[in-house]
Amino acid sequence: MTVTANQPLKHFNTFGIDAQAAWLAHCTEVSEIQQILSDKNFTQVPLLVLGGGSNILFTQNWNGLVLRNELKGITVIAEGDNHVYVKAMAGEPWHPFVQWCIGRGYGGLENLSLIPGLVGASPMQNIGAYGVEIKDVFHELEAMCIADRSMVTFSAADCAFGYRESVFKRTLKNQYIITSVTYRLHKKPSFNTTYGAIEQELERMGVKDLSIQAISQAVINIRTSKLPDPTVIGNAGSFFKNPEVPPTQYQILKSAFPTISAYALANGNYKLAAGWLIEQCGWKGFRKGEAGVHDKQALVLVNHGQATGSEIYALSSDILDSVQQKFGVILEREVNII
Ligand code: FAD
Ligand code: EPU
Repeated sequence: MTVTANQPLKHFNTFGIDAQAAWLAHCTEVSEIQQILSDKNFTQVPLLVLGGGSNILFTQNWNGLVLRNELKGITVIAEGDNHVYVKAMAGEPWHPFVQWCIGRGYGGLENLSLIPGLVGASPMQNIGAYGVEIKDVFHELEAMCIADRSMVTFSAADCAFGYRESVFKRTLKNQYIITSVTYRLHKKPSFNTTYGAIEQELERMGVKDLSIQAISQAVINIRTSKLPDPTVIGNAGSFFKNPEVPPTQYQILKSAFPTISAYALANGNYKLAAGWLIEQCGWKGFRKGEAGVHDKQALVLVNHGQATGSEIYALSSDILDSVQQKFGVILEREVNII
């Protein structure tokens, strides 16, 4: 384990924000996390667990300890005729892990290809894309209780997953460090191609025999066509969640804005495309100084190079206000604000 003082975090967050950590620890073993949590120098300072930093916006320096989770290892822990239980340590990078599973014919994660970040953060907001969420293949996770350093196992029910939500963002916020996640994957995969442009992309690719590899590639192609690559331009994916509104509000919006982009949910409510709302307010491609809105996806805020976290945050507040004024809809930020 290494612990260093006054460390820049620019390369540890995909927004590329130039924040500093008072202390930065890189932990490659669970025992190292236990060790640092019991170190008297750090028990009283604020703790921030960091994965790939792809869903975080630093608006200030972190006046405490940043713990970088670098636990590694992927193991098949059980296998039956139809399913395989794969345990991945929290520091495994997400997309290579997805590729590892696809390479062995284990289905269930292919629609979640190319999401940045690490395995340990995948349950935090129940990551989702192209019709699949992590809860669909989640088995259990192990986490360390920060208060007493005990290890606790959480089932899917314990995690209380929702749309970009889990218990770790709500009642148990800042109380646990996720150390591993076990997924229940399919040895005889069923394919999920109904969402968005997947079928269209598979056709364009000329795919004759559907496979999890082909779906993964289609998702990769779609994502790279509209989402900015954080290694080229700083961003954290969708900055806001897609808002859910009751049917009465949806009908009013639909008659005032007939082209509104939305879909019906099983509970009768409607999910509105926040990207559409933001684009209609004229923000797509907007730039103020170094902070901006992506020109291909209005839901993605970008750092053109030297933006501060506060500038990005101020832009997000202006967007929030204008969407509320035009549509009467209050957007909620998806990105974790520090
Ligand atoms: P971080 O940003 O490091 O952390 C996120 C939060 O989780 C923080 O609050 C952190 O303190 C906490 N945390 C991290 N690891 C742990 C741990 N081990 N234990 C306890 N707490 C922890 N998300 C989607 O859901 N779907 C998408 O399609 C998607 N597309 C994206 C596209 C781009 C280009 C980018 C940049 C981001 C996208 N995201 C998407 C958001 C992001 O990639 C995911 O939320 C990802 O899971 C974050 O992982 P991370 O390791 O980078 O987490
Ligand atoms: N749209 C616009 N203008 C825009 C962007 C989008 O009009 O600038 C409209 C289009 O009509 C489009 C609709 O919004 O049909 C939906 O857009 P898209 O398919 O790009 O998906 P999204 O709702 O913007 C969500 C997730 C993404 C996930 C994709 C694919 C949220 C907040 N975002 O984006 O997740 O990858 O669907 O499933 O739910 C993330 O969470 O960081 C993220 C990237």
